[in-house]
Amino acid sequence: MNQLEQQQIKNIEDAKKLLAKRTEEVKRPLTFHVTTFGCQMNARDSEKLIGILEDIGYVWEESEEADLVIYNTCTVRDNANQKVYGKLGYLNGYKKKNPLMKIGLCGCMMQEPSVVEKIKKSYPFVDLMFGTHNIYILGELIKKMLEMDLGITEGDRRIISIWDQASGIAEELPTERKYSFKSGVNIMFGCDNFCSYCIVPYVRGRERSRSPKDIIQEIERLVADGVIEVMLLGQNVNSYGKNLDEPVTFAELLKEVCAVPGIERVRFMTSHPKDLSDELIEVMATEPKVCHHLHLPLQSGSSRLLKEMNRHYDKEQYLALVDRIRNRIPDIALTTDIIVGYPGETEEDFLDTMDVVEKVRYNSAFTFIYSPRTGTPAAKKEQVPEDVTKDRFQRLLKRVQQIGQEESAKLTGATAKVLVEQINEQDDSLVTGRLSTNETVHFPGDESLIGKIVDVELSECRGFYYIGEMVD
Ligand code: 5AD
Ligand code: SF4
Repeated sequence: MNQLEQQQIKNIEDAKKLLAKRTEEVKRPLTFHVTTFGCQMNARDSEKLIGILEDIGYVWEESEEADLVIYNTCTVRDNANQKVYGKLGYLNGYKKKNPLMKIGLCGCMMQEPSVVEKIKKSYPFVDLMFGTHNIYILGELIKKMLEMDLGITEGDRRIISIWDQASGIAEELPTERKYSFKSGVNIMFGCDNFCSYCIVPYVRGRERSRSPKDIIQEIERLVADGVIEVMLLGQNVNSYGKNLDEPVTFAELLKEVCAVPGIERVRFMTSHPKDLSDELIEVMATEPKVCHHLHLPLQSGSSRLLKEMNRHYDKEQYLALVDRIRNRIPDIALTTDIIVGYPGETEEDFLDTMDVVEKVRYNSAFTFIYSPRTGTPAAKKEQVPEDVTKDRFQRLLKRVQQIGQEESAKLTGATAKVLVEQINEQDDSLVTGRLSTNETVHFPGDESLIGKIVDVELSECRGFYYIGEMVD
């Protein structure tokens, strides 16, 4: 354990004692809730926050009517910010009913100084703010908060701790996983690509890769704890390891991860097309543990716009890459991200995007309306009128959904391996699991199957999911 981790473990221990005192004082257990906005990175960060809070002794509460509510925020598009502002109003209502309640905000929005200013000025009921680079000091922040509550220290009621950049990585702190049998694993943090529309490099900082040794050790610990599927997480996993003292490629790391005994499935996210190597395609084709799903963000099919977006590939290169992948891994499911209405997008540019959609035939695609982000180069450009963007968005969505349904139905009648994840949310005589291609299947089964990989006949495809039957 490094010094940083030791320090934080000590802070968590101190906070635990303070919370015990506070619990005695208020004569009931204190509850908490964490709400996550945004991507898989945030979901993983929230598991770390929850782990720390449970270790301190807070009790999880399903609803947001808890004594401590933390919003782990996203700022990739403006509607993510607006959602947080809107929901803060509700939280204030709960707070008026429960004078013990504390409200905390963390995550990407907090790395934007203008947001922090706005919260300070217009949302005085927010008690705690911290950023993406220091979530691991949550124990320390809670300790400070409790010391004030108990009257041990005086000070500004508000605790704000936001760092401009990362300093060290604390590996061995408590985490509470959402699923016992699968887990995300950060292999790198930050992004250096500076796509012209994207705020991530500004709020998540420079690209940093973890060492293969630390990653493998974490996965071994997860296996010992019952995990059989890992999702390797990074903004651009294909550039993993380039800046390490002893450079390693992502393909090499992937092989090492597959070699960990007990791991049965490996996924990863996200791949930037510019860095996707033939070496990686080869590992995906030959390592049976690597799932046959690849998320390959297109953003736009127009070579002209791709250049403006600073993506470092053009339409032809993207299509050629898809061909190389499909030739080697014919059953791969491809998914993507697409932005509509990027500044200066013409009908012709948009038709290029539609053309790629027709040619690639994605299993599913996340489609986004371009959202100007302050501080990014694209935000200063002339914007496409809203009605034009909306019309293009609807046309794209319609095709993406039609093709997605057709592609998703292709396995009808086949038998495939399924990792059972949970009891079906609507019908508890069914369980829900995922195929290697990331498609969902519902079939009759019970709790004892959760976390197991079983063979399922995919009898019927209903839109985007299958109804199946387990086979021996
Ligand atoms: N506007 C709309 N979509 C965006 N994305 C990133 N930045 C923006 C933006 N400013 C999308 C990209 C990325 C996904 C995570 O979010 O498609 O791949
Ligand atoms: Fe944003 Fe581009 Fe980095 Fe993805 S690769 S996080 S889109 S800057």
